[in-house]
Amino acid sequence: MSVFRLTVRSVVREAEGVLGLLLADPGGADLPRWEPGAHLEVTLPSGAVRHYSLCGDPGDRGAYRLGVLREPAGRGGSEEVHASVGPGTVLGVRGPFNRFPLVPAERYLFVAGGIGITPLLPMVRSLPPGSWSLLYGGRSLASMAYREELAGLPGVTLVPQDTEGLLDLDAVLGELPPATAVYCCGPEGLLRAVEERWEGPLHTERFGASPVSDSRGSGGSGGGFEVELRRSGRTVRVEPGRSLLDAVREVVPGVAYSCEEGWCGTCETKVLAGTPEHHDSVLGEEERAAGASMMICVGRSRGPRLTLDL
Ligand code: FES
Repeated sequence: MSVFRLTVRSVVREAEGVLGLLLADPGGADLPRWEPGAHLEVTLPSGAVRHYSLCGDPGDRGAYRLGVLREPAGRGGSEEVHASVGPGTVLGVRGPFNRFPLVPAERYLFVAGGIGITPLLPMVRSLPPGSWSLLYGGRSLASMAYREELAGLPGVTLVPQDTEGLLDLDAVLGELPPATAVYCCGPEGLLRAVEERWEGPLHTERFGASPVSDSRGSGGSGGGFEVELRRSGRTVRVEPGRSLLDAVREVVPGVAYSCEEGWCGTCETKVLAGTPEHHDSVLGEEERAAGASMMICVGRSRGPRLTLDL
């Protein structure tokens, strides 16, 4: 899918630390269709590539709406958006992609942590009232984007941590009918807490670094391994403490990657031999077990050697 250019039409403050961007075609053309859960890959003016969920109305072909949280401890992309992206800025865009689609279910529970509300917002809007509920936690009410939009919808519970504490997942998940589809998006701790408590259908999207990043120095094999890049005809060693992606880039400098945290799917690579050790949040259980592909930014090898289609 090729990159196209969109212009920032407006920038508004959605909440403390959250900017809302509207992107439109410079010539006013309709934008590609998307479904709730989809995201865009955005190339910022500096060249940094970031992924942002679409949080507007899929029926509006005139603009894409994004919500961007300022993360001072992040890798700089959100700081760049907050500091230097304004009306008229031109951004490179690929997508929309959807790795977090809304599957049919009789009943849904949505759990959002902070900016994790963005992909869930169009989901809840697309569903009939009464078929879903949303539990939305944030640091404080002022930091919770789209709370006013949500206030008009039935089934929404806002839980600002400074006045009400953490989301009571035990109570909420404990009462759910087992066939409820649970969708969760937010920081790693929230996702893990939901995963530990819910055995029914669960759909998650991770934001920010997941603990898998730590695996770079301690993959299941514990140490280094060799990776054969079959098409390049080269074998390189991946030392402990070094990512597989880094080692691959030595030989294939143009290899595609973006988030480097195992959640965007850009670096998915076919495995020709060996057993990958997955640390991403892109592949489902069956895909992991099949081992036919892996995210090389965070994945490692279970054995001494892995062969990739690169
Ligand atoms: Fe995003 Fe690997 S670069 S999953």
